[in-house]
Amino acid sequence: MRRDLAELPTCTRCDLALTRQRVVIGTGPLSSALMVVGEAPGRSEDEGGEPFIGRSGQLLFRLIAEETGLSREQCFVTNVVKCRPPGNRAPRRDELEACRPWFEEQVGLVQPRVVVALGNTAARAVFGFVEGIGRTHGRVQLVGAGQGLATYHPAAALRGGPRVVAVMRADLRIVKRLVEAP
Ligand code: URA
Ligand code: SF4
Repeated sequence: MRRDLAELPTCTRCDLALTRQRVVIGTGPLSSALMVVGEAPGRSEDEGGEPFIGRSGQLLFRLIAEETGLSREQCFVTNVVKCRPPGNRAPRRDELEACRPWFEEQVGLVQPRVVVALGNTAARAVFGFVEGIGRTHGRVQLVGAGQGLATYHPAAALRGGPRVVAVMRADLRIVKRLVEAP
């Protein structure tokens, strides 16, 4: 079922609408080659209205810039769930299902060459993976008219340190190759 993205800022299709401050829609040019997809807004994003403006976003865009040469401003950045779950709990299945069509509309609009999904929740929502991110990261998939892969969430890198960062860097080098492929 198609949805009109003009209605996203006032969406009430799940109960997260009751507790959010704002719908965090996404940022970046509609012509972006790379789409970056996280799980759901946290406190900073719910207050600021933009995805990945907190601490994990700083690490994320440093790694993306270093490994792909793309800046935050060159990427379309969003989440599979557009409203903050209370207390940053994981989004529930019904919330993921209610929100996913918005992501599909965005993929149709931006038509990115590459989609990178961050962490288990986004990887499962975007690519339908059943296994965990430890097994699925780096696997190249088709998405929309382009390609994509999953890697760890930068919050996992903040917790897990250099080993996780090294895996993210390796996955982002695949992203670079896909973005630049003729
Ligand atoms: N974590 C996410 O998954 N998305 C954000 O926008 C911020 C933190
Ligand atoms: Fe709508 Fe998604 Fe927000 Fe739920 S999380 S209210 S489906 S925009």
